[in-house]
Amino acid sequence: MKTYHVRTSSKKYTVHSGSFGIKEIVHLVTQNLKCDRFFVLIDKNVNKIYGTEIQKEFNRQTGESYFFQMTSLEKQKSYSTIQKIYDELAKQNFGRDAGMILIGGGVVGDIGGFVASTYMRGIKCVHIPTTILAAVDSSIGGKTGYNFRNTKNLIGSFYQPDLVITSTEFFSSLSPKEIDSGIGEIIKYGYLSGKKFYEYLLSNYNSIHSLDKRVIEYVLQECISFKTSVVSDDEREGGIRKVLNFGHTFAHAFESYYQYKISHGKAVAAGILAANILSHKKGIITTNQLNSFQKLPAMMKFPKFLQEFDSTDLTRRMDLDKKNKSGKLNFVLLKDLGELLIDVNVNKNELNSALNEFKRLISV
Ligand code: GLY
Repeated sequence: MKTYHVRTSSKKYTVHSGSFGIKEIVHLVTQNLKCDRFFVLIDKNVNKIYGTEIQKEFNRQTGESYFFQMTSLEKQKSYSTIQKIYDELAKQNFGRDAGMILIGGGVVGDIGGFVASTYMRGIKCVHIPTTILAAVDSSIGGKTGYNFRNTKNLIGSFYQPDLVITSTEFFSSLSPKEIDSGIGEIIKYGYLSGKKFYEYLLSNYNSIHSLDKRVIEYVLQECISFKTSVVSDDEREGGIRKVLNFGHTFAHAFESYYQYKISHGKAVAAGILAANILSHKKGIITTNQLNSFQKLPAMMKFPKFLQEFDSTDLTRRMDLDKKNKSGKLNFVLLKDLGELLIDVNVNKNELNSALNEFKRLISV
Protein backbone atom coordinates (compact mmCIF):
# COMPACT_ATOMS: atom_id res chain seq x y z
CA MET A 1 0.00 0.00 0.00
CA LYS A 2 1.20 3.52 -0.80
CA THR A 3 -0.01 6.63 0.96
CA TYR A 4 0.07 10.14 -0.48
CA HIS A 5 -0.91 13.41 1.12
CA VAL A 6 -2.75 16.34 -0.40
CA ARG A 7 -2.26 19.51 1.61
CA THR A 8 -4.39 22.42 0.45
CA SER A 9 -5.60 25.44 2.37
CA SER A 10 -9.18 24.15 2.30
CA LYS A 11 -8.42 20.56 3.37
CA LYS A 12 -5.68 18.02 4.05
CA TYR A 13 -6.39 14.43 3.09
CA THR A 14 -4.83 11.11 2.24
CA VAL A 15 -4.83 9.04 -0.93
CA HIS A 16 -4.37 5.31 -0.23
CA SER A 17 -3.39 3.26 -3.25
CA GLY A 18 -3.02 -0.53 -3.26
CA SER A 19 -4.77 -3.78 -4.08
CA PHE A 20 -7.37 -3.57 -1.35
CA GLY A 21 -10.28 -5.96 -1.01
CA ILE A 22 -13.75 -4.60 -0.24
CA LYS A 23 -13.53 -5.38 3.47
CA GLU A 24 -10.30 -3.38 3.72
CA ILE A 25 -11.75 -0.48 1.74
CA VAL A 26 -14.76 -0.15 4.04
CA HIS A 27 -12.46 -0.47 7.04
CA LEU A 28 -10.33 2.44 5.72
CA VAL A 29 -13.50 4.51 5.33
CA THR A 30 -14.73 3.87 8.87
CA GLN A 31 -11.26 4.39 10.36
CA ASN A 32 -10.84 7.76 8.70
CA LEU A 33 -14.33 9.24 8.61
CA LYS A 34 -16.66 9.89 11.49
CA CYS A 35 -20.13 10.16 9.94
CA ASP A 36 -23.51 9.23 11.29
CA ARG A 37 -24.71 7.71 7.99
CA PHE A 38 -23.28 6.97 4.56
CA PHE A 39 -24.89 7.66 1.19
CA VAL A 40 -23.15 5.44 -1.35
CA LEU A 41 -23.33 6.66 -4.94
CA ILE A 42 -22.22 3.76 -7.09
CA ASP A 43 -21.75 3.19 -10.81
CA LYS A 44 -24.37 0.76 -12.19
CA ASN A 45 -21.83 -1.67 -13.71
CA VAL A 46 -19.67 -1.67 -10.59
CA ASN A 47 -22.81 -2.31 -8.54
CA LYS A 48 -23.67 -5.29 -10.74
CA ILE A 49 -20.30 -6.93 -10.06
CA TYR A 50 -19.39 -5.83 -6.52
CA GLY A 51 -22.60 -4.27 -5.16
CA THR A 52 -23.76 -7.16 -2.97
CA GLU A 53 -20.37 -7.47 -1.27
CA ILE A 54 -19.92 -3.71 -0.86
CA GLN A 55 -23.41 -3.36 0.61
CA LYS A 56 -22.85 -6.28 2.98
CA GLU A 57 -19.54 -4.79 4.24
CA PHE A 58 -20.99 -1.29 4.68
CA ASN A 59 -23.94 -2.65 6.60
CA ARG A 60 -21.68 -4.85 8.74
CA GLN A 61 -19.12 -2.15 9.54
CA THR A 62 -21.22 1.03 9.64
CA GLY A 63 -24.78 0.06 10.39
CA GLU A 64 -27.21 0.68 7.55
CA SER A 65 -26.05 2.67 4.51
CA TYR A 66 -28.12 3.97 1.63
CA PHE A 67 -27.15 2.91 -1.91
CA PHE A 68 -27.98 4.86 -5.07
CA GLN A 69 -26.77 3.59 -8.43
CA MET A 70 -26.24 5.64 -11.56
CA THR A 71 -25.33 5.01 -15.19
CA SER A 72 -21.99 6.62 -15.90
CA LEU A 73 -22.48 8.00 -19.37
CA GLU A 74 -21.24 11.50 -20.14
CA LYS A 75 -24.85 12.54 -20.90
CA GLN A 76 -25.74 11.58 -17.34
CA LYS A 77 -23.37 14.30 -16.08
CA SER A 78 -26.26 16.69 -15.98
CA TYR A 79 -28.21 18.80 -13.54
CA SER A 80 -31.16 16.42 -13.82
CA THR A 81 -29.03 13.58 -12.36
CA ILE A 82 -27.88 15.91 -9.59
CA GLN A 83 -31.49 16.81 -8.76
CA LYS A 84 -32.37 13.11 -8.42
CA ILE A 85 -29.53 12.64 -5.93
CA TYR A 86 -30.49 15.78 -3.92
CA ASP A 87 -34.02 14.45 -3.88
CA GLU A 88 -32.97 11.08 -2.52
CA LEU A 89 -30.67 12.62 0.12
CA ALA A 90 -33.47 14.85 1.32
CA LYS A 91 -36.14 12.11 1.21
CA GLN A 92 -33.93 9.81 3.27
CA ASN A 93 -33.27 12.62 5.78
CA PHE A 94 -29.52 12.78 5.34
CA GLY A 95 -28.12 15.60 7.45
CA ARG A 96 -24.87 17.53 7.88
CA ASP A 97 -23.09 14.58 9.47
CA ALA A 98 -23.66 12.33 6.48
CA GLY A 99 -20.81 11.11 4.30
CA MET A 100 -21.00 10.49 0.56
CA ILE A 101 -19.06 7.51 -0.75
CA LEU A 102 -18.45 7.78 -4.49
CA ILE A 103 -17.67 4.45 -6.12
CA GLY A 104 -17.10 4.53 -9.86
CA GLY A 105 -15.30 6.43 -12.60
CA GLY A 106 -15.02 10.12 -13.41
CA VAL A 107 -18.74 10.73 -13.96
CA VAL A 108 -19.70 9.38 -10.52
CA GLY A 109 -16.82 11.31 -8.90
CA ASP A 110 -17.61 14.63 -10.61
CA ILE A 111 -21.37 14.45 -10.06
CA GLY A 112 -21.12 13.04 -6.53
CA GLY A 113 -18.42 15.54 -5.59
CA PHE A 114 -20.65 18.40 -6.75
CA VAL A 115 -23.57 17.10 -4.71
CA ALA A 116 -21.32 16.68 -1.65
CA SER A 117 -20.06 20.23 -2.08
CA THR A 118 -23.55 21.75 -2.17
CA TYR A 119 -25.88 19.53 -0.12
CA MET A 120 -26.35 21.30 3.23
CA ARG A 121 -23.46 23.60 2.18
CA GLY A 122 -21.08 20.67 2.05
CA ILE A 123 -20.87 17.20 3.53
CA LYS A 124 -17.92 14.79 3.79
CA CYS A 125 -17.02 12.66 0.83
CA VAL A 126 -14.75 9.79 -0.14
CA HIS A 127 -13.67 8.93 -3.67
CA ILE A 128 -13.23 5.26 -4.45
CA PRO A 129 -12.23 5.32 -8.13
CA THR A 130 -12.85 2.08 -10.00
CA THR A 131 -11.37 3.12 -13.35
CA ILE A 132 -7.74 3.85 -14.17
CA LEU A 133 -8.75 7.27 -15.48
CA ALA A 134 -10.40 8.27 -12.21
CA ALA A 135 -7.56 6.76 -10.15
CA VAL A 136 -4.84 8.82 -11.84
CA ASP A 137 -6.81 12.00 -12.34
CA SER A 138 -10.37 12.92 -11.43
CA SER A 139 -10.55 11.39 -7.93
CA ILE A 140 -7.73 13.65 -6.71
CA GLY A 141 -7.84 17.42 -6.48
CA GLY A 142 -11.47 18.24 -5.81
CA LYS A 143 -12.72 19.25 -9.26
CA THR A 144 -16.44 18.55 -9.35
CA GLY A 145 -19.15 19.50 -11.79
CA TYR A 146 -21.46 18.72 -14.64
CA ASN A 147 -21.88 19.45 -18.34
CA PHE A 148 -24.08 22.34 -19.39
CA ARG A 149 -25.08 23.65 -22.83
CA ASN A 150 -22.88 20.98 -24.45
CA THR A 151 -19.82 22.28 -22.62
CA LYS A 152 -17.96 19.85 -20.43
CA ASN A 153 -17.83 20.76 -16.73
CA LEU A 154 -19.15 24.27 -17.36
CA ILE A 155 -20.74 24.30 -13.90
CA GLY A 156 -18.75 23.06 -10.96
CA SER A 157 -16.81 23.68 -7.80
CA PHE A 158 -13.51 22.91 -6.16
CA TYR A 159 -14.35 20.64 -3.26
CA GLN A 160 -11.61 18.47 -1.83
CA PRO A 161 -12.66 15.01 -0.65
CA ASP A 162 -11.86 13.76 2.85
CA LEU A 163 -10.23 10.59 1.59
CA VAL A 164 -9.36 8.76 -1.64
CA ILE A 165 -8.98 4.99 -1.79
CA THR A 166 -7.68 3.46 -5.01
CA SER A 167 -7.68 -0.30 -5.43
CA THR A 168 -6.22 -2.01 -8.51
CA GLU A 169 -8.56 -4.93 -7.75
CA PHE A 170 -11.35 -3.08 -9.56
CA PHE A 171 -9.36 -2.76 -12.78
CA SER A 172 -9.74 -6.44 -13.76
CA SER A 173 -13.40 -5.80 -14.63
CA LEU A 174 -12.64 -2.83 -16.94
CA SER A 175 -13.44 -3.14 -20.65
CA PRO A 176 -10.58 -2.62 -23.18
CA LYS A 177 -12.22 0.74 -24.01
CA GLU A 178 -12.03 1.86 -20.38
CA ILE A 179 -8.42 0.67 -20.07
CA ASP A 180 -7.58 2.62 -23.23
CA SER A 181 -9.23 5.70 -21.81
CA GLY A 182 -7.15 5.47 -18.63
CA ILE A 183 -4.00 5.11 -20.70
CA GLY A 184 -4.80 8.45 -22.40
CA GLU A 185 -4.53 10.28 -19.06
CA ILE A 186 -1.48 8.23 -18.06
CA ILE A 187 0.25 9.31 -21.29
CA LYS A 188 -0.26 12.93 -20.23
CA TYR A 189 1.88 12.32 -17.14
CA GLY A 190 4.69 11.10 -19.41
CA TYR A 191 5.06 14.70 -20.61
CA LEU A 192 4.55 16.27 -17.20
CA SER A 193 6.86 14.04 -15.21
CA GLY A 194 9.74 14.00 -17.71
CA LYS A 195 11.96 11.87 -19.96
CA LYS A 196 12.42 8.88 -17.63
CA PHE A 197 8.67 8.27 -17.18
CA TYR A 198 7.91 9.08 -20.84
CA GLU A 199 10.36 6.40 -21.94
CA TYR A 200 9.07 3.96 -19.35
CA LEU A 201 5.55 4.39 -20.73
CA LEU A 202 6.80 3.96 -24.28
CA SER A 203 8.54 0.68 -23.52
CA ASN A 204 5.82 -0.70 -21.23
CA TYR A 205 2.78 0.38 -23.24
CA ASN A 206 1.56 -3.20 -23.86
CA SER A 207 2.08 -4.24 -20.24
CA ILE A 208 -0.12 -1.36 -19.09
CA HIS A 209 -2.77 -2.54 -21.52
CA SER A 210 -2.61 -6.07 -20.18
CA LEU A 211 -2.74 -4.68 -16.61
CA ASP A 212 0.59 -6.18 -15.60
CA LYS A 213 0.47 -5.73 -11.82
CA ARG A 214 4.05 -4.53 -11.34
CA VAL A 215 3.81 -2.03 -14.21
CA ILE A 216 0.37 -0.69 -13.24
CA GLU A 217 1.48 -0.19 -9.65
CA TYR A 218 4.55 1.79 -10.69
CA VAL A 219 2.53 3.87 -13.16
CA LEU A 220 -0.13 4.68 -10.53
CA GLN A 221 2.62 5.67 -8.13
CA GLU A 222 4.14 8.15 -10.60
CA CYS A 223 0.81 9.68 -11.64
CA ILE A 224 -0.71 9.94 -8.15
CA SER A 225 2.45 11.37 -6.66
CA PHE A 226 2.66 13.99 -9.44
CA LYS A 227 -0.98 14.95 -9.11
CA THR A 228 -1.07 15.13 -5.29
CA SER A 229 1.98 17.36 -5.32
CA VAL A 230 0.65 19.75 -8.01
CA VAL A 231 -2.76 20.05 -6.29
CA SER A 232 -1.03 20.75 -2.97
CA ASP A 233 0.89 23.59 -4.63
CA ASP A 234 -2.03 25.12 -6.51
CA GLU A 235 -5.46 23.99 -5.35
CA ARG A 236 -7.59 26.30 -7.51
CA GLU A 237 -5.61 26.24 -10.74
CA GLY A 238 -4.19 29.74 -10.51
CA GLY A 239 -0.92 28.62 -12.10
CA ILE A 240 1.02 25.36 -12.07
CA ARG A 241 -2.08 23.11 -11.86
CA LYS A 242 -2.91 24.22 -15.39
CA VAL A 243 -0.27 21.78 -16.68
CA LEU A 244 -2.74 18.99 -15.86
CA ASN A 245 -4.90 20.36 -18.68
CA PHE A 246 -2.27 19.50 -21.29
CA GLY A 247 -4.15 18.24 -24.38
CA HIS A 248 -7.51 18.98 -22.76
CA THR A 249 -8.63 22.06 -24.70
CA PHE A 250 -8.57 19.96 -27.87
CA ALA A 251 -9.87 16.89 -26.01
CA HIS A 252 -12.98 18.61 -24.63
CA ALA A 253 -13.76 20.03 -28.06
CA PHE A 254 -13.40 16.57 -29.68
CA GLU A 255 -15.63 15.00 -27.03
CA SER A 256 -18.30 17.65 -27.48
CA TYR A 257 -18.07 17.66 -31.32
CA TYR A 258 -18.40 13.85 -31.54
CA GLN A 259 -21.07 13.80 -28.80
CA TYR A 260 -18.88 11.74 -26.47
CA LYS A 261 -18.52 8.85 -28.96
CA ILE A 262 -14.80 9.16 -28.25
CA SER A 263 -13.69 8.31 -24.70
CA HIS A 264 -12.15 11.05 -22.56
CA GLY A 265 -8.71 9.43 -22.40
CA LYS A 266 -8.57 8.79 -26.13
CA ALA A 267 -9.61 12.39 -26.73
CA VAL A 268 -6.78 13.51 -24.40
CA ALA A 269 -4.22 11.44 -26.34
CA ALA A 270 -5.52 12.96 -29.60
CA GLY A 271 -5.46 16.38 -27.95
CA ILE A 272 -1.81 15.88 -27.03
CA LEU A 273 -0.98 15.02 -30.66
CA ALA A 274 -2.68 18.26 -31.74
CA ALA A 275 -1.07 20.33 -28.96
CA ASN A 276 2.39 19.08 -29.95
CA ILE A 277 1.74 20.13 -33.55
CA LEU A 278 0.71 23.54 -32.25
CA SER A 279 3.93 23.80 -30.20
CA HIS A 280 5.87 23.06 -33.38
CA LYS A 281 3.88 25.64 -35.41
CA LYS A 282 4.68 28.25 -32.78
CA GLY A 283 8.39 27.39 -32.96
CA ILE A 284 8.48 26.16 -29.37
CA ILE A 285 9.77 22.69 -30.35
CA THR A 286 11.91 21.51 -33.28
CA THR A 287 10.81 19.00 -35.94
CA ASN A 288 13.00 16.33 -34.32
CA GLN A 289 11.39 16.97 -30.96
CA LEU A 290 7.91 16.86 -32.50
CA ASN A 291 8.60 13.48 -34.13
CA SER A 292 9.91 12.06 -30.91
CA PHE A 293 7.09 13.53 -28.73
CA GLN A 294 4.36 12.10 -31.00
CA LYS A 295 5.52 8.51 -30.49
CA LEU A 296 3.64 7.79 -27.27
CA PRO A 297 0.08 8.93 -28.17
CA ALA A 298 0.60 7.54 -31.68
CA MET A 299 0.63 4.05 -30.11
CA MET A 300 -3.11 4.43 -29.59
CA LYS A 301 -5.66 3.49 -32.22
CA PHE A 302 -7.96 6.41 -33.01
CA PRO A 303 -11.44 6.10 -34.54
CA LYS A 304 -11.59 6.91 -38.27
CA PHE A 305 -14.24 9.60 -37.70
CA LEU A 306 -11.78 11.72 -35.69
CA GLN A 307 -10.56 13.43 -38.86
CA GLU A 308 -14.05 14.46 -39.98
CA PHE A 309 -14.48 17.61 -37.88
CA ASP A 310 -15.19 21.03 -39.23
CA SER A 311 -12.39 23.25 -37.88
CA THR A 312 -14.59 26.35 -37.41
CA ASP A 313 -17.12 24.39 -35.38
CA LEU A 314 -14.39 22.71 -33.32
CA THR A 315 -12.71 26.04 -32.61
CA ARG A 316 -16.02 27.55 -31.52
CA ARG A 317 -16.26 24.78 -28.95
CA MET A 318 -12.78 25.70 -27.71
CA ASP A 319 -13.92 29.32 -27.30
CA LEU A 320 -16.28 28.13 -24.60
CA ASP A 321 -13.51 26.29 -22.80
CA LYS A 322 -13.06 27.69 -19.31
CA LYS A 323 -9.31 28.12 -19.84
CA ASN A 324 -9.89 30.87 -22.36
CA LYS A 325 -9.94 34.35 -20.93
CA SER A 326 -11.48 37.42 -22.55
CA GLY A 327 -11.96 35.87 -25.98
CA LYS A 328 -8.34 34.74 -26.33
CA LEU A 329 -7.46 31.12 -26.97
CA ASN A 330 -4.94 29.92 -24.40
CA PHE A 331 -3.21 26.56 -24.47
CA VAL A 332 -0.87 24.49 -22.35
CA LEU A 333 2.00 23.65 -24.70
CA LEU A 334 5.06 21.48 -24.50
CA LYS A 335 8.57 22.91 -24.51
CA ASP A 336 10.33 19.71 -23.53
CA LEU A 337 9.59 16.54 -21.58
CA GLY A 338 8.94 17.75 -18.04
CA GLU A 339 8.66 21.37 -19.20
CA LEU A 340 5.25 22.77 -20.07
CA LEU A 341 4.25 26.33 -20.88
CA ILE A 342 0.90 27.56 -19.54
CA ASP A 343 -1.38 30.30 -20.91
CA VAL A 344 0.20 30.34 -24.38
CA ASN A 345 -1.87 32.62 -26.56
CA VAL A 346 -2.68 31.16 -29.97
CA ASN A 347 -4.34 32.93 -32.89
CA LYS A 348 -6.95 31.38 -35.18
CA ASN A 349 -4.50 30.97 -38.10
CA GLU A 350 -2.00 29.03 -36.03
CA LEU A 351 -4.82 26.90 -34.66
CA ASN A 352 -6.31 26.17 -38.10
CA SER A 353 -2.97 25.24 -39.51
CA ALA A 354 -2.34 22.86 -36.57
CA LEU A 355 -5.79 21.30 -36.99
CA ASN A 356 -5.18 20.68 -40.70
CA GLU A 357 -1.91 18.96 -39.94
CA PHE A 358 -3.59 16.94 -37.18
CA LYS A 359 -6.18 15.75 -39.71
CA ARG A 360 -3.42 14.59 -42.07
CA LEU A 361 -1.64 12.77 -39.25
CA ILE A 362 -4.78 10.98 -38.07
CA SER A 363 -5.85 9.94 -41.57
CA VAL A 364 -2.72 7.84 -42.32
N1 GLY B 1 -7.99 17.07 -14.39
C1 GLY B 1 -7.17 18.19 -14.22
C2 GLY B 1 -7.12 18.69 -12.81
O1 GLY B 1 -7.52 18.01 -11.90
O2 GLY B 1 -6.67 19.80 -12.59
